[in-house]
Amino acid sequence: MTTTDAAAIAADFAQLDSLAEEEAYLALADRLRAAARAYYDGTEQLMTDAEYDAGIAAIEARVAFSPTEIDNYEDLLSKVAAGQSKGGDVAHPSRMGSLEKADGRDGLTAFVGSVTGPVAIEPKLDGLAIRAQYDAEGRLVLVATRGTGTHGEDITRSGLNLRIQGLPRRIDPTYGVREVRGEVYCSDADFLRAQTVRASLGGAPFVNSRNAAAGMLRKGDKAYAGILSFAAYGAGLTRPPASGLYTDAMRVAADAGLGTAASLLDFLHPVPSGADHLDDVLAQVDALEDQRATIGFPIDGIVIKANAAADRKRLGEGDRAPKWALAYKYAAETGITKVVAVRTTIGRTGRMGIQIEVEPVFVGGTTITFASGHNPTWMAERDVRIGDTVVLARANDVIPYVESVVLDARPADSAPWTPPETDPAGEPWDKSTLLWRSVSPEFSVLGTVVYATRSEMFDVEGIGIEIATALVDGGHVNDVADLFTLDAATLTTLQMGEGRTLGAKNAAKIVAELDRAKGAPWNRVITALGIRMTGRTAGRRLAAAFPTMDALRAATAADIAALDGFGEVKARTIREGLDSLVERGVLDRLAAAGVNMGAERAQDAAAPLAGMTLVVSGSVPGYSRTSIAEAIEAAGGKASSSVSASTSMLVSPESSTGKYVKAQSLGVRIADPATFAEALGAGVATQEQFLAILDRA
Ligand code: IVH
Repeated sequence: MTTTDAAAIAADFAQLDSLAEEEAYLALADRLRAAARAYYDGTEQLMTDAEYDAGIAAIEARVAFSPTEIDNYEDLLSKVAAGQSKGGDVAHPSRMGSLEKADGRDGLTAFVGSVTGPVAIEPKLDGLAIRAQYDAEGRLVLVATRGTGTHGEDITRSGLNLRIQGLPRRIDPTYGVREVRGEVYCSDADFLRAQTVRASLGGAPFVNSRNAAAGMLRKGDKAYAGILSFAAYGAGLTRPPASGLYTDAMRVAADAGLGTAASLLDFLHPVPSGADHLDDVLAQVDALEDQRATIGFPIDGIVIKANAAADRKRLGEGDRAPKWALAYKYAAETGITKVVAVRTTIGRTGRMGIQIEVEPVFVGGTTITFASGHNPTWMAERDVRIGDTVVLARANDVIPYVESVVLDARPADSAPWTPPETDPAGEPWDKSTLLWRSVSPEFSVLGTVVYATRSEMFDVEGIGIEIATALVDGGHVNDVADLFTLDAATLTTLQMGEGRTLGAKNAAKIVAELDRAKGAPWNRVITALGIRMTGRTAGRRLAAAFPTMDALRAATAADIAALDGFGEVKARTIREGLDSLVERGVLDRLAAAGVNMGAERAQDAAAPLAGMTLVVSGSVPGYSRTSIAEAIEAAGGKASSSVSASTSMLVSPESSTGKYVKAQSLGVRIADPATFAEALGAGVATQEQFLAILDRA
């Protein structure tokens, strides 16, 4: 909090008439309560620390001015936010309090002066406070959140399920540790991993590490197992150490295998006597602030405690916080700036990235120019707009993110940001997870792989987007040809979301599928190369004109442009695509892997559909759009998409479509799809026999 923030808020309110003023303060109080509840339940972040502190200060100022109103705000002022949590069924044997905050450096100095004996110094972890109980056999039997301070939520199931580092399910009972109080938190590395896991499961990213820890604990979701940590800052021992020192009690907890706040950082150490070692204390306060970005776990300050039992007893307990401890909060690592632009990018794995470009702002030691827009859902929920003033924070000092939008400062003419409906190729995004992906082969390796394995191309069953992503991420596949070098051993080592791997059976299946795919029809092989502007139709036409890979490689842009349906631009694009594949050795490697490279075809003048141009409208039983065209071409015919005077036959059920009506008016022969399929399936040798089957119907 800064006094100016509080003064500004108070000044705003002072301009209101008394009734409106009262309502405004009551509304502010409600917002503060909601923010506090969300904070302590860890569900979401409704206000920044600075906003909350400024709000509380404004209420304090209000009450100082008209003390009769204290009743309306007492909960906020006396019990602090801890009192706002939902609470739960677990009654805490003694209150789980809060910490008094130091009023600047002077407050710190005053506190150290009030402690006559030694002082303990610990990081102030930014996680979720819990209490855990062990039974006489050393078994973890209860885990509860702090909740209201007197009553918390039972999260024993999560505690047992999640394997929280530093909170063993079993400890050696001879140490006599029966209760620990402390913080469950998420280390920086684990937070990043949790975000990835969550994204792969289709969840919205956590707002910050605190929310991540709270979310995981609440849900008890095994997917996150092993990515939480615990550090105790209080222990209930059957035999308290004779020295009466807090640090000795924590030593016992640490020896029993528990994580402790006191042992997390080597460069923090207890000092013999507070007042005599003030400089040492202050140096440690500065050292931790300096190293905050690199310690690897989230803190929001430092805690100074009277180490000796005698001091703690003398200083005693306050209403809501002990008097023997003091928290010194570091400046929130946030900065205010403006959104200049929002851009989308496409990563190697086809993932749409959303970059929020901001005016450079210095936050937590570095200049930030970009923040992550996470995904379209997050952008919509946050409603971050170009021109908005935003509060930026650095999640665990790693990734900058938008903590909140300052709505009061929003320009009147701003409009919500909307993601592009399609990728740059005009293809719809794969929206099966929150992270949209482009599966256009030209933008990413992932796109190339997903595209090539589709049913209309190599038709490889078993390689979904998840396995494809793992293949690309793991560096196993960099182009289409690499697919055909995969073996079962490699596939079983793939690391997928939630630490899942592929079983031997599924790996073998995929290898068999890839083997089968090598024999895919030539036109499909061409399409599977993922060259821009070569969809299924182009693939078939190219295959018909250039029956072998050698012929295709030798084709000039002019040769291609001369084909039906290929203009000059398209021909040049295709030639460039082929050149790039040749250069990267993709075509040679496909051939070496044994993938079908086409074959010389003798033109069979007697083939049943020779010389005929057919148009298919609607579906033909037993065929896909591609496979019916292939079957027509295999029977010597040409598959076309529009009806004209040169159309020999329309395959279509009776209908009122344009094609049907046009064919009728032009006197083009119309065949029923089912009958046509029957004729194709009959495997007849001549056109006469083929037409006879159609006529029979
Ligand atoms: S001692 C009676 N030590 O900060 C409460 N608390 O803002 C004694 N916290 O409720 C708490 N690190 O959840 C203590 N090293 C530390 C801490 C710590 C984080 C949390 C704790 C407390 C909150 C107050």
